[in-house]
Amino acid sequence: MDFVIRPATEADLPAVCDIYNHYVEHSTCTFQVEPDTETERLAWFRDRSPVHPVTVAEAGGEVIAWAALSPWKSRCAYARSAEASVYVRPDAHRRGLGRALLADLIARGRAVGLHTILGATCTEHAASLALQDAMGFERVGVTREVGFKFGRWLDVAYTQLMLEKPGE
Ligand SMILES: CC(C)(COP(=O)(O)OP(=O)(O)OC[C@H]1O[C@@H](n2cnc3c(N)ncnc32)[C@H](O)[C@@H]1OP(=O)(O)O)[C@@H](O)C(=O)NCCC(=O)NCCS
Repeated sequence: MDFVIRPATEADLPAVCDIYNHYVEHSTCTFQVEPDTETERLAWFRDRSPVHPVTVAEAGGEVIAWAALSPWKSRCAYARSAEASVYVRPDAHRRGLGRALLADLIARGRAVGLHTILGATCTEHAASLALQDAMGFERVGVTREVGFKFGRWLDVAYTQLMLEKPGE
């Protein structure tokens, strides 16, 4: 599949929002339960620092997937840790977009001096965990029944990719 990955712009946010809201409404891959409004998504986008990029994959003039590095936690000591998110439109799965977007995020994370990238993934999502395994993320732990969505308790698997040597 031919696509380009580039930094997102405000003009991309309606598509970013549509892709995300599909998963809010139909999936446990995000623990958000109410769809995002475009106003909320714009505020999220404008609040980002240079070490927390948002990217999109575009094909045929359409945004069909997006990815982001977000603060892992707000305390200053976590500044060089970030959480990765990747969302591919359901009709575009298994065409290499997720892998390409995550590889690009990792390269961007290295370029801005991040020390580690983490994933927090509901354990129901084998595709997401398989993608992270394929990109070299290590599974570092599971928290039990920390989310409740669609009438069931959900576990979260934490994964981690070191971008620098431990202690560096
Ligand atoms: C997880 C997700 C991003 C994968 O994106 P994708 O574009 O379909 O994945 P790719 O085609 O790049 O696949 C890359 C690798 O991931 C793994 N993978 C992807 N989908 C998989 C599936 N359904 N089952 C098993 N492995 C899968 C495979 O290792 C695959 O490599 P391969 O094709 O050589 O076997 C996509 O399924 C998605 O958007 N899911 C909903 C949102 C989500 O869960 N995001 C992650 C949390 S932030």
